[in-house]
Amino acid sequence: MEPVKIVDNVYWVGALDYGIRDFHGYRTSDGSTYNAYLIVDEKVTLIDGVKKEFAPELLSRVSKIIDPKKIDIVISNHAEMDHSSGLPDIMKAIGVEKPLYTSKMGEKALRAQFHGAEMNLQTVSSNDTIKLGKYSISFLETRMVHWPDSMFSFCPELGILFSQDAFGMHLATSRRFDDEVGRNVWGYEALKYFANILTLYTTPIAKTLETVKSSGFMDKIKIIAPDHGIIWRSNPMEIIDLYAKWVKQEPARKAVVVFDTMWKSTEYMARALSDALAAEGVLVRLMNMKNNHRSDVVTEIYNSGAVLVGSPTMNNDIYPTIAELLCYMRGLKFQNKIGGAFGSYGWSGEAAKMLQTSLTDMKFQMPVPEVRIQWVPEESALEPIKAMAKAVAAALPKEPVPADFNL
Ligand code: FEO
Repeated sequence: MEPVKIVDNVYWVGALDYGIRDFHGYRTSDGSTYNAYLIVDEKVTLIDGVKKEFAPELLSRVSKIIDPKKIDIVISNHAEMDHSSGLPDIMKAIGVEKPLYTSKMGEKALRAQFHGAEMNLQTVSSNDTIKLGKYSISFLETRMVHWPDSMFSFCPELGILFSQDAFGMHLATSRRFDDEVGRNVWGYEALKYFANILTLYTTPIAKTLETVKSSGFMDKIKIIAPDHGIIWRSNPMEIIDLYAKWVKQEPARKAVVVFDTMWKSTEYMARALSDALAAEGVLVRLMNMKNNHRSDVVTEIYNSGAVLVGSPTMNNDIYPTIAELLCYMRGLKFQNKIGGAFGSYGWSGEAAKMLQTSLTDMKFQMPVPEVRIQWVPEESALEPIKAMAKAVAAALPKEPVPADFNL
């Protein structure tokens, strides 16, 4: 396995996981990467690990540059298992006595994961610096971006920010750099990663961006090297600016109409609602939970101003696929959303009411009560759906959504 040179003396030595399609519930349609980096200096340094099954791949890439036993230092910026589970095998190959630098919370996490595995864990805090030779590494703790242990490592002499999960995306490609991948591809994948992994942490992310600015790192950053996806070398400020925009969760004149259906009546309502919203100049994404994954729905929700959820009543309850979506949405704690609930029913009709309560509990602004239609909707029964569309459209920002507004 070959390494990829990033700049003189710095290499990508990570792993490509082309086959993964489920990353703890996130549908990784294009696989993922576990990025790790090797700095060759007086002290040879490995930054971050890979999943356990990819440890041989990492060591193979390293061995094309240097004997892995010559690595002097390992840094673990993030102790989630996609980066840490390979560390015991990697440390065995390098030498378990070599220092493994991590944050205080990282030390706790690694000890709890590896139960007595021999490791020379050394803790570091924000502003600590280690000298590698002509290069150095400064640390910046980034708690809850997105785990308590998370930290950045910055090499000021090279201007490389090793940012762990932040600024990353799940994308397996033989191309390693931002200028080699289409803007439409990386723009969507970066947003999908942000929506699914980072929505809950927009406040600590905003603080981290401020800290990076005030730390003096910002002006020196030439390359951002995250733990997943492409390396930002053409214009690293672009992804920082996108994060600064995304943390605000500003509403847009876009609505997601998401539903499931038993006998097409709720689907008919959803289609009528989408049509009425589009007639009001709202960009609409109509998504049936039978053929859309929750992680794709949440990506569309992230940059929408409104989320209209439809479910038939089944066994006096919400349809299971919609219940699952609500559970996922509840955890992410979206901000600044307008909501709506609708659904058809046969005889009891609890689902739409339950949806209204659930979205209200998520602090969605609900301009109209739930809309329920018994049995099969007639055209004349759709007036409340049209009224919902008008009320939602009136509550959204007036500016139309630009073609490339993800970016
Ligand atoms: Fe890529 Fe939070 O692990």
